[in-house]
Amino acid sequence: MIKSKGLFESPLLKKEKKIRLDRFLANQGFGSRSEVQKLIKKGFVKVNDQEVKNPAVHIDPSKDKITVEDQEVDYQENFYFMLNKPSGYLTATYDENLPTVLELLSDQSIADKLFPVGRLDLDTEGLLILTTDGQLAHRLAHPKWNVEKEYFAIVKGDVSSINFSVYEKKGIYLKKDKYQTKPFKVKVLFHSTDQSEIFITVLEGKYHIVKRIMEELGHPVEYLRRIRMGTLSLDEDLKVGDYRPLTKEEVEKLKDLVNLK
Ligand code: URA
Repeated sequence: MIKSKGLFESPLLKKEKKIRLDRFLANQGFGSRSEVQKLIKKGFVKVNDQEVKNPAVHIDPSKDKITVEDQEVDYQENFYFMLNKPSGYLTATYDENLPTVLELLSDQSIADKLFPVGRLDLDTEGLLILTTDGQLAHRLAHPKWNVEKEYFAIVKGDVSSINFSVYEKKGIYLKKDKYQTKPFKVKVLFHSTDQSEIFITVLEGKYHIVKRIMEELGHPVEYLRRIRMGTLSLDEDLKVGDYRPLTKEEVEKLKDLVNLK
C-alpha cells in the first residue's frame, strides 16, 4: 500500500486528536511506554489536576492539562526522533522489497506520520532525524542552509599524505560526475597502509557525496556512519537500530540553526 503524506491529505481525513496517556508521555520524552506506565501507576501524573492511575486513559493534548510530578507538560505538536540507522534499511517511507527505517519504530501509528530528514545510503549507519515537522526537515536538508553533516568513515589505503586543508576552501571537482563540491573538512584519526579512519564534514546532502569524494581521492569508503547533523550529535548511548525522542533543547537548537522560531 502506498502511503500518502501531508500534501494530498484531506482535512476531513484528519485523525482523532485523542491519544492514550502513556503513549502521549512516551512521545513527549518521558521514557519508554513501560517506564511511563510505572510513573502513571505510582500516581505521579495528573490530568486536569486529577490523579490518574490508568495508563490507557485517552486525553486530548491540545485541551487537557497534563502534569508529571506537578510540572506541566509542555505539549509539542510535532514529533522529533533521532534514530541510529542500521545498515540494510532504506531511508524511505515505503518500499516494496526492502525494510525501511520507519519499520524500526515500535509504534506504527506514529511511524506513519514521520519522514526522514535527508537520506543515508542502504549500507550507511548512524544519525537520522525522523520528524513530522515538514518545515524543519525541508530547511535542514536544503543546500541553502549549509547544515554540516559529519561522518565517521573507514576508507581504503593510507590518507596521511593528503593535504586536506585545500578542500576546506574550495571543495573538490568530481571528474566522473562533472560536479564541484562545496568545501569539506577531514580529520584523520588513524592510518595504516591498508586502511584509514577519518571524520569528514560536508555541507551537502547529494547522493553518495562522501563516497564520491573519497573515490575521487583514491580512497574508497568501506564503512560510513553519520555522527552529527548541524547542532545534533548522535547519542553515544543509542545502540544501532534504536531511537529516542529529541529533547526540547535539541529541537530548539536545530530550529535556531535554520532560523525557525
Ligand atoms: N554520503 C554518502 O556517500 N553516503 C551516505 O549515506 C551519506 C553521505
